[in-house]
Amino acid sequence: MPNSDSFVNWFRDSSPYIHAHRNRTFVIYFGGEAVLDDTLHNLIHDFALLNSLGIRLVLVHGIRPQIDQRLKLQNKQSQFYQQLRITDDTALQCVKESAGLVRIEIETLLSLGVANSPMSGAKISVISGNFVTAQPLGVLDGIDYQYTGKVRRIDSAAIHQQLDLGHVVLISPLGYSPSGELFNLSAEQVATEIATSLQAEKLILMTEQSCQSTESGQLIAQMTTLEAEYLIDHEPQLEASTQCAIQSAIYGCQSGVNRVHILNRHIDGALLIELFSRDGIGTLISSTEFEIIRPAVLSDIPGILDLITPLQQQGILIPRSEEHLEININDYIVIDRDGLIIACTALHPVEQHAGLIACLAVHPDYQKATRGNQLLEQLLNKAKQHSITRLFALSTQTILWFKERGFQDSQFSTLPAVLQESYNHLRNAKVLTKDL
Ligand SMILES: CC(C)(COP(=O)(O)OP(=O)(O)OC[C@H]1O[C@@H](n2cnc3c(N)ncnc32)[C@H](O)[C@@H]1OP(=O)(O)O)[C@@H](O)C(=O)NCCC(=O)NCCS
Repeated sequence: MPNSDSFVNWFRDSSPYIHAHRNRTFVIYFGGEAVLDDTLHNLIHDFALLNSLGIRLVLVHGIRPQIDQRLKLQNKQSQFYQQLRITDDTALQCVKESAGLVRIEIETLLSLGVANSPMSGAKISVISGNFVTAQPLGVLDGIDYQYTGKVRRIDSAAIHQQLDLGHVVLISPLGYSPSGELFNLSAEQVATEIATSLQAEKLILMTEQSCQSTESGQLIAQMTTLEAEYLIDHEPQLEASTQCAIQSAIYGCQSGVNRVHILNRHIDGALLIELFSRDGIGTLISSTEFEIIRPAVLSDIPGILDLITPLQQQGILIPRSEEHLEININDYIVIDRDGLIIACTALHPVEQHAGLIACLAVHPDYQKATRGNQLLEQLLNKAKQHSITRLFALSTQTILWFKERGFQDSQFSTLPAVLQESYNHLRNAKVLTKDL
């Protein structure tokens, strides 16, 4: 039995993510290797949990090792050109068999509901279908790829309909052509095209390895698409499935998917850790910066309150009501880290050419990484834009921090009248000023 306090804290900490993910569409790719693995049932439990939490799930599975196994049984080997399988008649038969078996296996595991199992009561309905239209890859560099195809169109309306009904949509890497032919597709490409056409919030690619720098061996926690392109160009030793995932991620982001996550499928619970904890465990790729400093908007108020309430309770910040935030929201700036507010501050214009810095807070997990400095820099710029020439701060416990950044001790009498009136003498905060 885990320590009940840590369990309660962990559960509470995950609640912003539960709210944020509900009714969002996530497309998750996992390779045929995951299906062969003994741990498949754990992955399926995690899918079931995501479904129970109201996430609209599209699962795309691969079948590469299953095709290889079947060919081997017939003493045959696939031909590859540029890492792509050339699908001849024999291989196509293996593709059909593999897709059917894998699909049935996943459907079986998703249907499990015996008492005392993690799937008990899950009641998941799974839908598969001809949602992907394909066309042949054709002849490239003189090589005829035969039944290897590429995605031509995704029936996104039909997939959305199924998701609206609460179904989990399960897609195999197959595509059908209007002329009645079947094509073998890259599962990563299918997942990326589906995520793009559904305008999914997230595309999650479960790979064989973590995405880490070959030089330092360190996990790359986040990258913009520009950084991802640089990595592909400069780290050619990256593991093949990781390289393929990064390329899919770049394409997905450029085609409108907000966030692409690359997760090592060997980490038990990687999906849950990535989606419901502050820093995750995989690599997040996005076309925009992952963490931005920006003016606050009304929808940030719950996040700001989450951040400042503990500091208000400790008496470090003065209490600010939701109404106060609503009225003064234009004074606030925040640091937004992938949708979470991790820092904030405000500049309240007080009288002509004077302003008060207030409500400065950086979440404890993110302190000591110059975020406080960055907020102050932004406020100084904002102050200059508003022709403010003197800044005030009232502090009980952060006096030195301000002084190290050029603020000076000042007298109560130097405070503008309006601040003198609202000054809480019991709190006895030090008056600090900085002339710009
Ligand atoms: C003060 C605060 C905003 C700084 O945020 P931050 O992102 O850690 O700031 P930076 O990374 O730019 O600066 C970190 C430096 O400030 C120091 N520092 C942090 N809090 C301090 C304090 N109360 N007094 C003096 N120095 C402090 C750190 O020790 C660190 O210095 P070091 O690197 O030499 O050890 C953050 O600690 C915080 O939110 N504190 C609680 C709320 C608060 O006090 N708000 C101010 C109300 S007036």
